[in-house]
Amino acid sequence: MTTWFASPADAATRLEANGYLADAASATTTFLAGALEKPLLLEGPAGVGKTELAKAVARATGAELVRLQCYEGLDEARALYEWNYKKQLLRIQASQGQEWDQTHDDIFTDEFLLTRPLLTAIRRDEPTVLLIDEVDKTDVEVEGLLLEVLSDFQVTIPELGTVAAVRRPFVVLTSNASRELSEAVKRRCLYLHLDYPDVARERQILRSQVPELDDALAGQLVAMVARLRELELKKAPSIAESVDWARTLIALEIRDLDDDAVSRTLGVVLKHVSDQERAVKELRLPR
Ligand SMILES: Nc1ncnc2c1ncn2[C@@H]1O[C@H](COP(=O)(O)OP(=O)(O)O)[C@@H](O)[C@H]1O
Ligand SMILES: [Mg+2]
Repeated sequence: MTTWFASPADAATRLEANGYLADAASATTTFLAGALEKPLLLEGPAGVGKTELAKAVARATGAELVRLQCYEGLDEARALYEWNYKKQLLRIQASQGQEWDQTHDDIFTDEFLLTRPLLTAIRRDEPTVLLIDEVDKTDVEVEGLLLEVLSDFQVTIPELGTVAAVRRPFVVLTSNASRELSEAVKRRCLYLHLDYPDVARERQILRSQVPELDDALAGQLVAMVARLRELELKKAPSIAESVDWARTLIALEIRDLDDDAVSRTLGVVLKHVSDQERAVKELRLPR
């Protein structure tokens, strides 16, 4: 059995050493997911560090990251496994004259199996973080596929039997909550809601990712981002956009984020015309 993290504090320290600044709730839940060997469901708006947390867990523990990117239309053949039909056909052609039963047994073996992320993660005997990213983008039926993996850490292949995990992966599911996940999936997971960080934490994140940013400017930037997030926008600025904004200010050698500077660089953080117009109006920025 792998011990992922020794304690919540250990999780926080090792995540931070790997570039991820976790708050108390995130550190505790991350520790628990490892200790209880339960999948971790991360829900929250875009750009708050859901995917990054899974990557940071992998870096912090030296585990390999296996990622299943979800999308509409994702199916079993892309998520679990698929038989390599071309190769099977060649084998059938090559074994003309052989009993069909024999051929059948030959072509439904490991050699002809194309493993996809879920099966790959289950079969690895080295430490693995399995990231099932943006699970809310799939159709509900795909959750049925996930259940066997999430609850029993196994996959059943009719022709081969059941493949059980040699070593349980650390499973992270992320969702932007564009739809409700099924109760069955939620029941099997620990749940963590991630939101935009408070100004102190965001400032820390900026300082660690953009070290050349001076602290006073970082303070101005996170305060402005916080104000923008309070407006009713189509798309509020995420942490990724704060980081981009910091890099923009450095590139333009802007040392003071006054209204004029905000106005000039607004396109880095707000990517809808209507959002920009709203910000200009409500914050009374110069055009
Ligand atoms: N707690 C954090 N510590 C350090 N960087 C973070 C943190 N949260 C978010 N980030 C930064 O924000 C970016 C976007 O996060 P990401 O995980 O892609 O968001 P999402 O929630 O949409 O999956 C990351 O690339 C990372 O640079
Ligand atoms: Mg993501």
